[in-house]
Amino acid sequence: MNMQHAIQPARPAFLDGTAKKLLIGGKWVEAVSGKSFTTRNPATGEVLDAVAEGDAADIDLAVAAARKAFDGPWGRFKPAERQRLMLRIADLLEANIADIAMLDSLDMGMPLAFAQYMAAGPVVETFRFCAGQAVAIHGETLYPSLPGDVLAYTLKEPIGVVGGIVPWNGPSFNATWKIAPALAAGCTLVLKVAEQASLTALRMAEICLEAGLPEGVLNVITGYGETAGAALAAHMDVDKVSFTGSTETGRAIIHASAGNIKKLTLELGGKSPNIVFNDANLELAVPGAAMAAFGNSGQVCLAGTRLFVQRGIYEEFTGRVAEFAKALVVGDPLNPSTMIGPVVSEEQLNRISGYLAAGTAEGAEALAGGARLTDGALANGYFIPPTLFSGVRDDMKIAREEIFGPVISALPFDDVDDVVPRANATEFGLASGVWTNDINTASRVSRRLRAGTVWVNGYSLMDPAVPFGGYKMSGYGKESGAHHIEEYLATKAVWMNTQ
Ligand code: NAI
Ligand code: MG
Repeated sequence: MNMQHAIQPARPAFLDGTAKKLLIGGKWVEAVSGKSFTTRNPATGEVLDAVAEGDAADIDLAVAAARKAFDGPWGRFKPAERQRLMLRIADLLEANIADIAMLDSLDMGMPLAFAQYMAAGPVVETFRFCAGQAVAIHGETLYPSLPGDVLAYTLKEPIGVVGGIVPWNGPSFNATWKIAPALAAGCTLVLKVAEQASLTALRMAEICLEAGLPEGVLNVITGYGETAGAALAAHMDVDKVSFTGSTETGRAIIHASAGNIKKLTLELGGKSPNIVFNDANLELAVPGAAMAAFGNSGQVCLAGTRLFVQRGIYEEFTGRVAEFAKALVVGDPLNPSTMIGPVVSEEQLNRISGYLAAGTAEGAEALAGGARLTDGALANGYFIPPTLFSGVRDDMKIAREEIFGPVISALPFDDVDDVVPRANATEFGLASGVWTNDINTASRVSRRLRAGTVWVNGYSLMDPAVPFGGYKMSGYGKESGAHHIEEYLATKAVWMNTQ
């Protein structure tokens, strides 16, 4: 535990004490209502800056600006022009990694070292990958079996005005996964960022404008879900919504999409199984299983929170993961040695604390962690230690529901036929992990797991070239990979009767 550090990293000039505005049609404007709200540092409770409270009126203006840009100059941008612009954005983001990482860290509590890795790696590289995709969009040539001389081809066209709605658990990365594919495909975007951590996306939007993005192509609205988010989800002139967040809100977005039958991409919750066999390489699997669930304080959709351990190694393995958990440095996100920062808000703190209490009440035993930390300076922030529950049964609340905190539920299993159905017995299907040195076990289990991603002898590995997305109630549609751009394109068939 530590809240002291020798060198205070530079505070971004962006945090200048002024209230942050909305970006609509290339202009920074106040909310129509004139309202704003403050955003806080979850490590200290300190107020950072105020942000505009956008609502339905601002969403209307932003959608109109996005439509105008789509029908205007942006629609005439050649793929290579979009590519060049996106590469410029990537370069400028790269030059501003320090700022972006600091904003992520201050606004949502992500350990700075991890935020720097995310900004320098996944954020910048996703823009570069999508820039390449912009010039690789292509349709097909088809020869229908009709009499005469008939040819058909398909055109892949931008779907139009897109609404992006994101959570707070990785502000720069979440914004990137909406902005980059939309620009590559030639769409325009209204991005509704999360009320708990709005600042990074505003700074990234400044960078996009600086790189030369035409007005109205990217509009950023800060504000609450029930007002701004709901208005965007229901808007009759939005062609598609790409949403990342809870399954419950995802369901509301499906209902809202019915008005104009808009297309959706949904990246929702998870309760991912991480399965460790007796023959696993424990040197890899112990830290792998721990960080699969504790990284980013467990505030990760793909977190491996149901840790299935084969009986032959159950005691040893859970003991070692508990030791690993206790050794993780919890504290000030700006300290380079901090591995676990605070959770994002008091609301999340209380929610997670409720699950910790439920685990104990249902008879599970916390081998590490188990209750909020309040020593010294930690009392001002929202700190939950990495927690490992043993003695968990499949039907316990902590084994079924997404906690979104640094909490592992460990469950012993007998063999493949015991663990696979139990791993699949969840409403979710986002990700999964398998740890074994037997290639046949790895291959058989990978095929039987009902999840959009399976990692073998690793966890949380991501790359812009590899698709990511859920099965079952974890949502539909893919992000990342070539599939990502496809979600932002419409296919048109053109018939040519050439006789
Ligand atoms: P949320 O899903 O309600 O919020 C995500 C985004 O949706 C935010 O921008 C929010 O303003 C917006 N939103 C909320 N209600 C909306 C509506 N009716 N229409 C349109 N947009 C709306 O998630 P929240 O409230 O931040 O967290 C609650 C719980 O959800 C967490 O404790 C966690 O369990 C889960 N969650 C899971 C995530 C994941 O990636 N699996 C991400 C965020 C939350
Ligand atoms: Mg919510």
